[in-house]
Amino acid sequence: MTTVVRPAPGAAAGPDRPLSVPRTEPFPDGPLRDRRLGRAHRDLRVSVTDRCPLRCSYCLPAEGIPWLPARSLMTAAEIVRAVGLATGLGLVNVRLTGGEPLARPDLVELVAGIVDLPAAPAVSLTTNGVGLADVAGPLARAGLGRVNVSLDSVDRLRYAAVTGRDRLGLVLEGLEAAREAGLEPIKINAVLLPGVNDGDAEELLAFALARGFELRFIEQMPLDGGRLWRRDRMISAAAILERLGASHRLTALPETTTAPAARWLVDDGPGTVGVIAAVTRPFCARCDRVRLTADGQLRGCLFSDAESDLLGAMRAGASDAELSQIFRLCVADKPAGHGIGRPGFRPPRRPMSAIGG
Ligand code: 5AD
Ligand code: SF4
Repeated sequence: MTTVVRPAPGAAAGPDRPLSVPRTEPFPDGPLRDRRLGRAHRDLRVSVTDRCPLRCSYCLPAEGIPWLPARSLMTAAEIVRAVGLATGLGLVNVRLTGGEPLARPDLVELVAGIVDLPAAPAVSLTTNGVGLADVAGPLARAGLGRVNVSLDSVDRLRYAAVTGRDRLGLVLEGLEAAREAGLEPIKINAVLLPGVNDGDAEELLAFALARGFELRFIEQMPLDGGRLWRRDRMISAAAILERLGASHRLTALPETTTAPAARWLVDDGPGTVGVIAAVTRPFCARCDRVRLTADGQLRGCLFSDAESDLLGAMRAGASDAELSQIFRLCVADKPAGHGIGRPGFRPPRRPMSAIGG
Protein backbone atom coordinates (compact mmCIF):
# COMPACT_ATOMS: atom_id res chain seq x y z
CA MET A 1 0.00 0.00 0.00
CA THR A 2 1.35 3.44 -0.83
CA THR A 3 0.49 6.97 0.10
CA VAL A 4 1.36 10.19 -1.67
CA VAL A 5 3.07 12.82 0.44
CA ARG A 6 3.61 16.37 -0.69
CA PRO A 7 6.18 18.74 0.79
CA ALA A 8 4.76 20.80 3.65
CA PRO A 9 3.68 24.34 2.78
CA GLY A 10 6.43 26.78 3.69
CA ALA A 11 9.08 24.07 3.43
CA ALA A 12 12.63 25.36 3.16
CA ALA A 13 13.57 22.75 0.61
CA GLY A 14 12.02 19.71 -0.94
CA PRO A 15 11.31 17.67 -4.03
CA ASP A 16 8.96 19.36 -6.47
CA ARG A 17 6.97 16.21 -7.19
CA PRO A 18 5.13 13.87 -4.83
CA LEU A 19 6.95 10.79 -3.53
CA SER A 20 5.35 7.36 -3.43
CA VAL A 21 6.34 5.45 -0.31
CA PRO A 22 4.90 2.59 1.73
CA ARG A 23 2.40 3.69 4.39
CA THR A 24 3.41 1.17 7.02
CA GLU A 25 6.95 0.12 7.98
CA PRO A 26 8.30 2.93 5.80
CA PHE A 27 11.93 2.01 6.33
CA PRO A 28 12.17 -1.28 8.19
CA ASP A 29 15.94 -1.55 7.72
CA GLY A 30 18.74 0.90 8.11
CA PRO A 31 18.52 4.35 9.71
CA LEU A 32 15.17 6.02 10.19
CA ARG A 33 14.34 8.18 7.17
CA ASP A 34 11.66 10.76 6.54
CA ARG A 35 9.33 10.52 3.58
CA ARG A 36 9.87 13.98 2.19
CA LEU A 37 13.64 14.18 1.84
CA GLY A 38 14.84 10.73 2.88
CA ARG A 39 17.13 12.18 5.54
CA ALA A 40 18.86 9.50 7.67
CA HIS A 41 18.38 10.18 11.40
CA ARG A 42 21.07 9.44 13.95
CA ASP A 43 20.65 12.09 16.64
CA LEU A 44 18.19 12.03 19.55
CA ARG A 45 17.81 15.11 21.75
CA VAL A 46 16.09 14.48 25.03
CA SER A 47 14.81 17.35 27.15
CA VAL A 48 15.09 15.82 30.62
CA THR A 49 13.31 18.72 32.34
CA ASP A 50 11.71 22.01 31.33
CA ARG A 51 12.91 23.66 34.54
CA CYS A 52 15.74 26.20 34.51
CA PRO A 53 17.02 28.68 37.10
CA LEU A 54 18.10 31.20 34.43
CA ARG A 55 15.90 33.51 32.36
CA CYS A 56 17.79 33.96 29.10
CA SER A 57 15.52 36.42 27.35
CA TYR A 58 15.70 34.50 24.03
CA CYS A 59 14.23 31.52 25.86
CA LEU A 60 12.22 32.33 28.99
CA PRO A 61 10.43 35.54 30.02
CA ALA A 62 11.68 37.24 33.22
CA GLU A 63 8.54 36.25 35.10
CA GLY A 64 8.97 32.62 34.04
CA ILE A 65 6.36 30.32 32.55
CA PRO A 66 4.31 27.63 34.25
CA TRP A 67 6.45 24.48 34.54
CA LEU A 68 5.08 21.16 33.41
CA PRO A 69 3.53 19.25 36.33
CA ALA A 70 6.07 16.86 37.88
CA ARG A 71 3.94 13.79 37.10
CA SER A 72 4.05 14.54 33.38
CA LEU A 73 7.87 14.60 33.27
CA MET A 74 9.49 11.35 32.17
CA THR A 75 11.11 9.32 34.94
CA ALA A 76 14.70 8.18 34.51
CA ALA A 77 13.48 4.62 33.79
CA GLU A 78 11.10 5.91 31.10
CA ILE A 79 13.87 7.96 29.48
CA VAL A 80 16.25 5.00 29.48
CA ARG A 81 13.58 2.79 27.89
CA ALA A 82 12.84 5.37 25.21
CA VAL A 83 16.52 5.92 24.46
CA GLY A 84 17.10 2.16 24.33
CA LEU A 85 14.43 1.81 21.65
CA ALA A 86 15.79 4.82 19.78
CA THR A 87 19.32 3.44 19.69
CA GLY A 88 17.91 0.18 18.32
CA LEU A 89 16.53 2.25 15.44
CA GLY A 90 19.86 3.90 14.69
CA LEU A 91 19.54 7.05 16.82
CA VAL A 92 22.95 6.45 18.34
CA ASN A 93 23.97 9.99 19.29
CA VAL A 94 22.10 11.07 22.40
CA ARG A 95 22.14 14.62 23.69
CA LEU A 96 20.55 15.44 27.03
CA THR A 97 19.17 18.95 27.19
CA GLY A 98 16.40 20.97 28.80
CA GLY A 99 15.49 23.38 30.31
CA GLU A 100 18.55 22.85 32.43
CA PRO A 101 19.41 19.16 32.68
CA LEU A 102 21.38 19.74 35.89
CA ALA A 103 18.08 20.72 37.52
CA ARG A 104 17.34 16.98 37.60
CA PRO A 105 18.71 15.46 40.79
CA ASP A 106 19.02 12.02 39.14
CA LEU A 107 21.01 13.18 36.10
CA VAL A 108 24.15 11.16 36.94
CA GLU A 109 22.14 7.93 37.29
CA LEU A 110 20.29 8.76 34.10
CA VAL A 111 23.55 9.14 32.16
CA ALA A 112 24.83 5.87 33.62
CA GLY A 113 21.61 4.10 32.62
CA ILE A 114 21.87 5.33 29.03
CA VAL A 115 25.57 4.57 28.67
CA ASP A 116 24.90 1.01 29.91
CA LEU A 117 22.39 0.30 27.13
CA PRO A 118 23.44 -2.50 24.76
CA ALA A 119 24.12 -0.01 21.93
CA ALA A 120 26.41 2.03 24.28
CA PRO A 121 25.30 5.34 22.73
CA ALA A 122 27.52 8.42 22.76
CA VAL A 123 25.96 10.73 25.35
CA SER A 124 26.50 14.50 25.47
CA LEU A 125 24.93 17.29 27.49
CA THR A 126 23.80 20.85 26.80
CA THR A 127 23.86 22.90 29.99
CA ASN A 128 23.92 26.49 31.19
CA GLY A 129 26.98 25.46 33.21
CA VAL A 130 25.77 27.02 36.46
CA GLY A 131 25.77 23.78 38.47
CA LEU A 132 28.47 22.02 36.47
CA ALA A 133 31.39 22.50 38.86
CA ASP A 134 29.83 20.07 41.36
CA VAL A 135 28.83 17.31 38.95
CA ALA A 136 31.30 17.39 36.04
CA GLY A 137 33.42 14.66 37.67
CA PRO A 138 30.52 12.33 38.57
CA LEU A 139 28.99 12.84 35.10
CA ALA A 140 32.26 11.97 33.39
CA ARG A 141 32.65 8.87 35.57
CA ALA A 142 29.09 7.85 34.68
CA GLY A 143 30.13 7.87 31.01
CA LEU A 144 29.12 11.30 29.72
CA GLY A 145 31.20 12.15 26.65
CA ARG A 146 31.16 15.92 26.27
CA VAL A 147 29.33 19.13 27.11
CA ASN A 148 28.02 22.21 25.34
CA VAL A 149 27.80 25.18 27.69
CA SER A 150 25.68 28.28 27.04
CA LEU A 151 27.69 31.46 27.63
CA ASP A 152 26.56 34.72 26.03
CA SER A 153 29.05 37.12 27.64
CA VAL A 154 32.17 36.98 29.78
CA ASP A 155 31.29 40.35 31.27
CA ARG A 156 29.47 39.87 34.57
CA LEU A 157 26.90 42.61 34.06
CA ARG A 158 26.08 41.73 30.48
CA TYR A 159 25.90 38.03 31.37
CA ALA A 160 23.33 39.00 33.99
CA ALA A 161 21.51 41.22 31.50
CA VAL A 162 21.05 38.30 29.08
CA THR A 163 20.29 35.56 31.60
CA GLY A 164 18.51 37.59 34.29
CA ARG A 165 20.88 36.13 36.92
CA ASP A 166 24.31 37.05 38.31
CA ARG A 167 25.90 33.63 37.74
CA LEU A 168 28.89 34.19 35.46
CA GLY A 169 31.41 33.08 38.10
CA LEU A 170 29.69 29.71 38.54
CA VAL A 171 29.65 29.09 34.78
CA LEU A 172 33.37 29.83 34.51
CA GLU A 173 34.04 27.39 37.36
CA GLY A 174 31.82 24.85 35.64
CA LEU A 175 33.78 25.16 32.40
CA GLU A 176 37.08 24.52 34.18
CA ALA A 177 35.59 21.56 36.05
CA ALA A 178 34.38 20.10 32.75
CA ARG A 179 37.85 20.39 31.31
CA GLU A 180 39.43 18.74 34.36
CA ALA A 181 36.89 15.94 34.11
CA GLY A 182 37.84 15.38 30.46
CA LEU A 183 34.39 16.25 29.04
CA GLU A 184 36.01 17.45 25.82
CA PRO A 185 35.79 18.96 23.28
CA ILE A 186 33.94 21.64 25.23
CA LYS A 187 31.71 23.76 23.05
CA ILE A 188 30.33 27.16 24.03
CA ASN A 189 26.99 28.30 22.61
CA ALA A 190 26.46 32.06 22.40
CA VAL A 191 23.40 33.98 21.24
CA LEU A 192 23.90 37.69 20.50
CA LEU A 193 21.05 40.08 21.26
CA PRO A 194 20.94 43.61 19.82
CA GLY A 195 21.62 46.29 22.39
CA VAL A 196 22.46 43.73 25.09
CA ASN A 197 25.54 41.64 24.24
CA ASP A 198 26.02 42.24 20.51
CA GLY A 199 29.36 43.87 21.27
CA ASP A 200 30.66 40.73 23.00
CA ALA A 201 31.57 38.57 20.00
CA GLU A 202 35.29 39.35 19.99
CA GLU A 203 35.70 39.11 23.75
CA LEU A 204 33.94 35.74 23.75
CA LEU A 205 36.19 34.52 20.95
CA ALA A 206 39.35 35.64 22.77
CA PHE A 207 38.11 33.88 25.92
CA ALA A 208 37.39 30.64 24.08
CA LEU A 209 40.61 30.62 22.03
CA ALA A 210 42.75 31.21 25.14
CA ARG A 211 41.20 28.17 26.83
CA GLY A 212 40.76 25.80 23.93
CA PHE A 213 36.94 25.92 23.98
CA GLU A 214 35.05 25.70 20.66
CA LEU A 215 32.87 28.80 20.41
CA ARG A 216 29.73 28.75 18.25
CA PHE A 217 27.39 31.65 17.73
CA ILE A 218 23.75 30.67 17.21
CA GLU A 219 21.40 32.99 15.36
CA GLN A 220 18.50 33.84 17.60
CA MET A 221 15.47 31.74 16.67
CA PRO A 222 11.80 32.49 17.39
CA LEU A 223 11.63 30.11 20.34
CA ASP A 224 11.27 32.46 23.28
CA GLY A 225 8.43 31.91 25.71
CA GLY A 226 7.85 35.68 25.73
CA ARG A 227 7.34 35.86 21.91
CA LEU A 228 9.71 38.82 21.49
CA TRP A 229 11.71 37.54 18.48
CA ARG A 230 11.72 39.78 15.43
CA ARG A 231 13.50 38.92 12.21
CA ASP A 232 14.65 42.48 11.64
CA ARG A 233 16.16 42.70 15.13
CA MET A 234 18.08 39.44 14.94
CA ILE A 235 21.89 39.51 14.61
CA SER A 236 22.67 37.53 11.48
CA ALA A 237 25.54 35.14 10.87
CA ALA A 238 26.81 37.53 8.20
CA ALA A 239 26.95 40.39 10.72
CA ILE A 240 28.80 38.23 13.26
CA LEU A 241 31.36 37.12 10.67
CA GLU A 242 31.86 40.67 9.48
CA ARG A 243 32.54 41.77 13.05
CA LEU A 244 35.01 38.95 13.76
CA GLY A 245 36.60 39.30 10.32
CA ALA A 246 37.62 42.88 11.13
CA SER A 247 40.17 41.66 13.67
CA HIS A 248 40.83 38.03 12.67
CA ARG A 249 41.72 36.10 9.54
CA LEU A 250 38.88 33.61 9.09
CA THR A 251 39.35 30.62 6.78
CA ALA A 252 36.24 28.56 6.01
CA LEU A 253 36.55 24.87 6.90
CA PRO A 254 34.81 22.23 4.75
CA GLU A 255 31.22 21.58 5.81
CA THR A 256 30.41 18.27 7.46
CA THR A 257 27.34 16.34 6.34
CA THR A 258 25.07 16.95 9.32
CA ALA A 259 26.63 19.39 11.82
CA PRO A 260 24.69 22.65 11.67
CA ALA A 261 27.65 24.90 12.48
CA ALA A 262 29.70 26.33 9.61
CA ARG A 263 33.23 26.60 10.99
CA TRP A 264 36.16 28.89 10.38
CA LEU A 265 39.80 28.54 11.30
CA VAL A 266 40.81 31.63 13.27
CA ASP A 267 44.15 33.24 12.40
CA ASP A 268 45.41 29.98 10.82
CA GLY A 269 44.36 27.88 13.81
CA PRO A 270 44.35 25.72 15.70
CA GLY A 271 41.37 27.57 17.19
CA THR A 272 38.07 27.66 15.29
CA VAL A 273 34.80 29.54 15.52
CA GLY A 274 31.41 28.25 14.42
CA VAL A 275 28.26 30.03 13.35
CA ILE A 276 24.90 28.30 13.34
CA ALA A 277 22.84 30.26 10.83
CA ALA A 278 19.60 28.54 11.76
CA VAL A 279 17.51 31.42 10.40
CA THR A 280 19.43 32.91 7.47
CA ARG A 281 20.88 29.60 6.13
CA PRO A 282 18.64 26.82 7.40
CA PHE A 283 20.21 23.36 7.49
CA CYS A 284 16.86 21.54 7.50
CA ALA A 285 17.80 19.59 4.36
CA ARG A 286 20.64 17.95 6.32
CA CYS A 287 18.86 17.65 9.68
CA ASP A 288 19.34 14.24 11.34
CA ARG A 289 17.60 15.03 14.66
CA VAL A 290 14.57 13.79 16.52
CA ARG A 291 13.48 15.37 19.78
CA LEU A 292 11.84 13.96 22.86
CA THR A 293 10.26 16.65 25.02
CA ALA A 294 10.44 16.68 28.81
CA ASP A 295 6.90 15.27 28.92
CA GLY A 296 7.68 12.46 26.53
CA GLN A 297 6.39 13.81 23.21
CA LEU A 298 8.38 12.94 20.09
CA ARG A 299 8.96 15.80 17.67
CA GLY A 300 10.49 15.58 14.25
CA CYS A 301 11.18 19.31 14.10
CA LEU A 302 11.77 22.08 16.63
CA PHE A 303 9.40 24.31 14.71
CA SER A 304 6.54 21.96 13.94
CA ASP A 305 3.91 21.48 16.61
CA ALA A 306 3.31 17.92 15.43
CA GLU A 307 4.07 15.65 18.38
CA SER A 308 3.60 11.93 19.00
CA ASP A 309 2.70 10.90 22.54
CA LEU A 310 5.41 8.34 23.26
CA LEU A 311 5.10 8.67 27.05
CA GLY A 312 1.31 8.32 26.99
CA ALA A 313 1.65 5.12 24.97
CA MET A 314 4.36 3.84 27.30
CA ARG A 315 2.27 4.52 30.39
CA ALA A 316 -0.72 2.83 28.72
CA GLY A 317 1.34 -0.35 28.42
CA ALA A 318 2.55 -0.20 24.79
CA SER A 319 5.04 -2.86 23.73
CA ASP A 320 8.56 -2.09 22.54
CA ALA A 321 7.44 -2.82 18.97
CA GLU A 322 4.55 -0.37 19.28
CA LEU A 323 6.78 2.32 20.74
CA SER A 324 9.38 1.78 18.00
CA GLN A 325 6.64 2.29 15.45
CA ILE A 326 5.87 5.69 17.02
CA PHE A 327 9.51 6.65 16.39
CA ARG A 328 9.33 5.44 12.79
CA LEU A 329 6.16 7.31 11.99
CA CYS A 330 7.34 10.50 13.69
CA VAL A 331 10.50 10.56 11.57
CA ALA A 332 8.61 9.52 8.44
CA ASP A 333 6.28 12.51 8.81
CA LYS A 334 9.00 15.06 9.56
CA PRO A 335 8.47 18.36 7.73
CA ALA A 336 10.96 19.39 5.08
CA GLY A 337 11.91 22.60 6.85
CA HIS A 338 10.95 25.33 9.28
CA GLY A 339 10.17 28.15 6.86
CA ILE A 340 11.13 30.91 9.33
CA GLY A 341 10.68 34.26 7.61
CA ARG A 342 8.16 32.96 5.07
CA PRO A 343 4.64 34.34 5.05
CA GLY A 344 2.44 32.34 7.38
CA PHE A 345 5.32 31.11 9.57
CA ARG A 346 4.22 30.61 13.16
CA PRO A 347 6.64 29.97 16.04
CA PRO A 348 6.06 26.70 17.88
CA ARG A 349 3.50 26.79 20.68
CA ARG A 350 6.04 25.50 23.20
CA PRO A 351 9.25 27.38 24.10
CA MET A 352 12.73 25.89 23.67
CA SER A 353 12.92 25.11 27.41
CA ALA A 354 10.13 22.52 27.03
CA ILE A 355 11.11 21.13 23.63
CA GLY A 356 14.83 20.75 24.15
CA GLY A 357 17.57 22.58 22.27
N1 5AD B 1 17.65 30.99 19.62
C1 5AD B 1 18.88 30.44 19.49
N2 5AD B 1 19.43 29.63 20.42
C2 5AD B 1 18.72 29.39 21.52
N3 5AD B 1 18.99 28.66 22.59
C3 5AD B 1 17.95 28.72 23.44
N4 5AD B 1 16.98 29.49 22.92
C4 5AD B 1 17.44 29.92 21.73
C5 5AD B 1 16.91 30.77 20.71
N5 5AD B 1 15.71 31.34 20.82
C6 5AD B 1 20.26 27.96 22.75
C7 5AD B 1 20.90 28.21 24.08
C8 5AD B 1 21.47 26.88 24.45
C9 5AD B 1 20.91 25.91 23.46
C10 5AD B 1 20.20 24.79 24.11
O1 5AD B 1 20.02 26.59 22.65
O2 5AD B 1 21.93 29.13 23.96
O3 5AD B 1 22.85 26.87 24.36
FE1 SF4 C 1 17.68 28.18 30.82
FE2 SF4 C 1 18.88 27.36 28.59
FE3 SF4 C 1 16.57 28.69 28.43
FE4 SF4 C 1 18.81 29.97 29.25
S1 SF4 C 1 18.43 29.04 27.21
S2 SF4 C 1 16.76 30.10 30.22
S3 SF4 C 1 19.87 28.41 30.35
S4 SF4 C 1 16.83 26.70 29.33
